[in-house]
Order: sequence, then structure tokens, then C-alpha cells
Amino acid sequence: MVDHFHYRHQELYAEQVPVAAIADQAATPVYIYSAATFREHYRRLQQAFAECAPLICYSVKSCGNVHILRMLAELGSGFDVVSGGELYRVLQAGGPAGRVVYAGVGKTQSEILQAMEAGIACFNIESEAELEAVGALAAGRKQTVRAALRVNPDVDPRTHRHTSTGQKETKFGVDIERARQVFARYGRQPHLSLTGIHLHIGSPINSTEPYVQAVKKVLDLIAELRREGIAIETLNIGGGFGADYTTGQAPAADLYAEALIPLLRGQDLELILEPGRSISANAGIFVTRLLYLKQGGEKTFAIVDGAMNDLIRPVLYDAFHFLWPTAVSPDHVITNRCREPDLPGLRPYDVVGPICETGDCLAKDRLLPPLKPGDLLAVFTAGAYGFVMSSQYNSRPRAAEVLVDSDRFEIIRRRETYGDLIAHEIA
Ligand code: LLP
Repeated sequence: MVDHFHYRHQELYAEQVPVAAIADQAATPVYIYSAATFREHYRRLQQAFAECAPLICYSVKSCGNVHILRMLAELGSGFDVVSGGELYRVLQAGGPAGRVVYAGVGKTQSEILQAMEAGIACFNIESEAELEAVGALAAGRKQTVRAALRVNPDVDPRTHRHTSTGQKETKFGVDIERARQVFARYGRQPHLSLTGIHLHIGSPINSTEPYVQAVKKVLDLIAELRREGIAIETLNIGGGFGADYTTGQAPAADLYAEALIPLLRGQDLELILEPGRSISANAGIFVTRLLYLKQGGEKTFAIVDGAMNDLIRPVLYDAFHFLWPTAVSPDHVITNRCREPDLPGLRPYDVVGPICETGDCLAKDRLLPPLKPGDLLAVFTAGAYGFVMSSQYNSRPRAAEVLVDSDRFEIIRRRETYGDLIAHEIA
């Protein structure tokens, strides 16, 4: 099972709790997470790569509520952060700084110092200028910090152009040719131990081939560097592993591992992984209530209380999120989340939010069971890049977040209030 959201007696449950019961208490729109799903995906990855005993650094940006970070820290997870704010979250959640890796092309001085003070495991460095900055700050503190150079291997991850990072024309990392020069110049510094290579080629990547290509390229580089006396100890292959937006879409963790482990065997490299979506995406749903039905020409619009400020992926990336009512007739209990369900009596709808933009659409031309005002709709695979990318656009307070664990649930972020909307604008 890819997640713990399932229909029982024609009603959607999050683990052992009816989704409607949560919506009644927490109101809508609301993000609902399943603790068991988070744990399961973390463990699957850990088991798949067990031979390499990787350090799994969960990517905080995908879903960073402190309750979720705490749960993952308890499983032994490390964390991939990209800002001082994310590092703060991890530390607040009790995550160990010694298992934090820090990426990002624009780390500020104060963020770098904050990470040094915390004692993070590794800076994932994106440019020579950043290397100079980190080296100088480390020397100033008489501290030796570990760093990895983010290498851009120039492979095509075949994903959306906005989330493709490992090709030459993106802003991330340095190309392999330049990496040689960077190691030659900065590979033997007193306060900066540049002993790792970092990759992150894009997200989501629903095949193993781009990883294989990228890893082969950097293994050649590592061998070359080692011949020149530069010790490379760590290989971080980043994140980007797929999630099931439709049933069976993403390769299982085992498949990535089977493709990569043979390349890594005997290389004497500490392996780091930075999964975000593959752990968090299927662990969350976004639940919204239908307000009105409206006929527009041939179309039926289902106007709901959730909008692009809550979940921006459909408009930003043309992302497909499976969406289905939480209470259905026996004919419409669904197990296969696909683009065009083959069930009797479905009708086409555009599911749209209240925001004043044409793009404010959660689902277009979607075949759904007949809907009526008051129905709850669940948007699946919304755990990653859902709440974290939400905004207050149109002065809409952000949604609540709820964490379900077995037969219990807890509001782990209260719904924002109107007061929250202006809290930073008044003295
Ligand atoms: N490591 C680094 C350095 C990253 O930049 C990212 C994601 C990850 C790990 C985790 O990738 P994941 O395993 O979650 O795919 N907002 C977009 C995705 C942006 C990904 C940014 N970097 C979306 O909603 O699809």
C-alpha cells in the first residue's frame, strides 16, 4: 500500500479516522497527514539501500511541520535544509545538527554562521564564491567544517522544466570540468574539509536512468580526484525519487536501490540521500469542501473552499493530483487513482477555488461522481510541496494541518486567523 488513506464502508479514512470527522473538528480547507505513511516510506528507503547504510536526510522543504520533523528525527533521520529557517525548524524539532546537510545557491553570512554554530554535518556548496565565504567564516571561528561540492552532471531528468536542476543551463552546482578546478584549488584547506560530492538532478524523477548516468559521471570524477590525492569520502545523490500521484506511477525504493547499489559497491563512499517527496507526498491529503456548483457553457464548475494559495502545484507545474469525494456510493469506491477512472455514472467537472485568477483550478475536466454542495473532496498526494508552498494570497488565512496516528489525530498547525494576516503589519 502506498499510503494509509483508504475507503472503508464508502467513506475515506486516514488510518483509523474518518476524514469527515477531522474536517468537522478542524474545518476546511485542511491538510491531513498520516504518520504511518511517513514512517513506511522512510523505512522502505532505508531498507532498500541498507547495504550502503546511507544517512537519509529528509528534505525539509517538502513538508516541514515541526511535528513531522520530530517524528522523522525519532526514526533516526537526518535533514536536508536550504535556509536558516529550515535549520531552525529542525533544531526546534529536536533534530540532531550532526545529521543536517545544508544546500542552496544563496546562503547568507548569518545563515552560514548559524549553521556553523549549530555544528551541522556538511555544507553543500554551490559555487567558488560560496566556498570562499564559508572558508573565510570557518577560519574566523577557527572551526573546521565539512563540505561537499554540488556537481551539475548535465543529465536530463526528464521532469518539469521548473524542477529540473541537473542540466548545464540551471543555476545549481558547478559542471564537472569546473569541479576538477575547484577541488584542485580548494581541496586542501585547513578550515574547510571539501571531501564530498553532492548531486541533485531534479524532482520528481520517475526512472532510475538519470541517477545512473549522473552517478557514473561523478564516480569517474571521484576516481580521478583520488588519483591526485584528494580524498573524497562522501557521495550525496540528493532527492527527487518519485511518488505515486497516480497508482503505480513511481518506481519503488527498491528499484532505485537496485540500479544504484551495484555502482556504489566497493567505492568506499559514505552515501547520503535527500528524499523529500518520496517520503512526504503520499503521506498527505488536502481536504476541501464544495461550496457551489455552477454551469458555464458546457462546463460544470465545482467551486470549493480550497484554492491555489493552499495548493499551488496544479497551476504552477500543471501537476496532476487525484481528487475524489470522501463519501461515495458503492459504485464509486476507488482503489486505482488514475487520470480517467472507468466507473459508471461519472461526470466531468472543473474543480476551482475562490481566488480571483483563472488559474485557480485544482482539477480540470475531471471525471467525478456526481457532486453536491457540502461534499468533502480529498486531493491526494498533497503532502509534499503542499502546505509549505501555501500563501495568504487574497488574504486567505493558511489552512490547518492535522497529523493522524492510528486512531488518534492532532491539529499540528492551527488554522491562521484574520489577526495572523495583519500581525506583522501593525506595531
Ligand atoms: N535535495 C535538494 C538539494 C533539493 O533541491 C530538493 C528539492 C530535494 C533534495 C528534495 O527533492 P524531492 O525528493 O522532494 O523531490 N516544488 C516542486 C519541487 C521542488 C523541488 C526542489 N528541490 C514541486 O512541487 O514539485
